[in-house]
Amino acid sequence: MEEEKLHGLPSSKRTPRSLKVPASAAVFVLFLIIVLSGCIISGLDIFIFPGGSLREVFNVNKIPEDSLRSSQKIEYLLNCTNATKPQTCPIDYLTMFQPTDLPARECPEYFRWIHEDLRAWKSTGITKEMVERTRDFAHYRLVILKGRVYVEHFRKPYQTRDVGTIWGIVQLLRLYPGKIPDLELMFYCNDQPVIMKNDYQGPNATSPPPLFRFCGNQSAFDITFPDWSFWGWAEINIGPWESTVRAIRQNSEKIEWNDKVPYAYWKGNTGVAATRRDLMKCNATSGQDWKTHLYHQEWSREVSQGFKQSKLEDQCTHRYKIYVEGEAWSVSEKYIMACNSMTLMVKPDFLDFFTRGMIPLEHYWPIRPDNKCRDIKFAVEWGNNHPQEAQVIGESGSKFMEEGLKMKNVYDYMFHLLSGYGKLITYKPEIPPGAIEYCSETMACPAQGLFRKNMLESMVKSPSDSPPCTLPPPYELGEFQAFLGRKESVSRQVERWEAEYWEKMNKN
Ligand SMILES: *[C@@H]1O[C@H](CO)[C@@H](O)[C@H](O)[C@H]1NC(C)=O
Ligand SMILES: *[C@@H]1O[C@H](CO)[C@@H](O)[C@H](O)[C@H]1NC(C)=O
Ligand SMILES: *[C@@H]1O[C@H](CO)[C@@H](O)[C@H](O)[C@H]1NC(C)=O
Ligand SMILES: *[C@@H]1O[C@H](CO)[C@@H](O)[C@H](O)[C@H]1NC(C)=O
Ligand SMILES: *[C@@H]1O[C@H](CO)[C@@H](O)[C@H](O)[C@H]1NC(C)=O
Repeated sequence: MEEEKLHGLPSSKRTPRSLKVPASAAVFVLFLIIVLSGCIISGLDIFIFPGGSLREVFNVNKIPEDSLRSSQKIEYLLNCTNATKPQTCPIDYLTMFQPTDLPARECPEYFRWIHEDLRAWKSTGITKEMVERTRDFAHYRLVILKGRVYVEHFRKPYQTRDVGTIWGIVQLLRLYPGKIPDLELMFYCNDQPVIMKNDYQGPNATSPPPLFRFCGNQSAFDITFPDWSFWGWAEINIGPWESTVRAIRQNSEKIEWNDKVPYAYWKGNTGVAATRRDLMKCNATSGQDWKTHLYHQEWSREVSQGFKQSKLEDQCTHRYKIYVEGEAWSVSEKYIMACNSMTLMVKPDFLDFFTRGMIPLEHYWPIRPDNKCRDIKFAVEWGNNHPQEAQVIGESGSKFMEEGLKMKNVYDYMFHLLSGYGKLITYKPEIPPGAIEYCSETMACPAQGLFRKNMLESMVKSPSDSPPCTLPPPYELGEFQAFLGRKESVSRQVERWEAEYWEKMNKN
């Protein structure tokens, strides 16, 4: 197996495994286009673009040095060695910086969940033994020592789910040099929750092991971390988040609310989850109009037609967009919500780090999983009868994506989570035997095609001008339940409106 070969090699002699995968990508399509297909974008949808490298298309072989230079700020250069020599990491790293913009603003509300995610180890701390307990299923171990990143790969995840996150952490260290404590963590890249709370209850229960994942679940102790797609998803031709969300927003603003189709839209891969197949039953037919336009994404056909059926503009044309989970959380959520349409959210089982701060009727409209068609129809009719209110919900959800989720916030979230986690570690982490040192050079220099383009675009070019936002305090006892209760009570309110509405309709 490939992992076996990987272990014994000295760090600088090899490039990260996953980057060797030749970039396979669509031929000419704007990489944004598919974003809106809301499709494959779920956890396990498998899709590989055919065709050649993106080299010719994007001409990304050259590092845009000019773009790395500006005024007197400290500028990071990407020092790629000649192809014949092994790529090494810089000897010296910036170990401190002084942000000029003070004071810091307070982080968004959703950062308070960091305290919740780490609460299980608050009294015990995190011991080496706890960390080691996930060794048999984690995909990799990541160690940060004096601002350098070392990774021991255990097994290969789907696509390059490991690489994206490692790249993100490497960039975080460039953004806040000298600010991240030494730490060791284990990362699991698959969709399903692992460390179930039920298994760590009772008088004889051991402490749960800390394990990082891309999404959380209230029945699990897994620690939620931003997923790879914030730095782009090369396999399916998606660029880094910040430019993507800007493009979606700009595009969607071109259509006036009144000109948007007064129906709920969803398009995606129905193969990955029963709840998606169930949703398809709500497709408008001549006999029964549930006010939806639902489409199954035909991937092979889309490919052969160059994604003409999935253009960005085509996907922000409706006043209402449906979000429904796939295998677990779906990466499609942030792209769907960026559309300036009111999102109809089928109540999720899984949570990613930012969705936990969203409130029904403020950022989205709640849909019950077991009553999808009627709930959606009501939501659409309510929205068509209350266009201003529906528009406000759509805009505030979309703004949450663009501003609440801007990359500075994503990095600040990682900063506070890793800082809090690092403080809990009770031992001194060491470089694991067989680990690879990762830095921007070893990752971006050998990368090809869209992998390389995404990395160059999302690379942190200077230390931050401003310090991280200040972390809001933990929820007080009862406050957390009250917050969850508030979400529930808004959803109940919507259900009461709906019941009254149908009752009235039936009388007429
Ligand atoms: C770039 O890397 C090479 C060797 O890896 C080193 O000799 C050189 O000093 C570096 N250049 C800069 C500008 O850091
Ligand atoms: C790479 O090789 C070329 C030609 O041999 C040389 O001109 C150039 O300076 C080298 N670049 C680095 C960074 O060593
Ligand atoms: C806990 O351990 C004690 C001693 O080993 C044992 O008697 C008891 O049954 C255990 N309790 C549970 C709930 O497993
Ligand atoms: C839903 O209905 C539309 C219009 O009749 C049709 O084009 C589409 O294929 C249907 N979607 C599914 C998933 O059957
Ligand atoms: C956690 O995930 C499971 C599926 O693994 C799901 O059935 C359950 O509803 C989720 N729990 C919560 C509280 O959402």
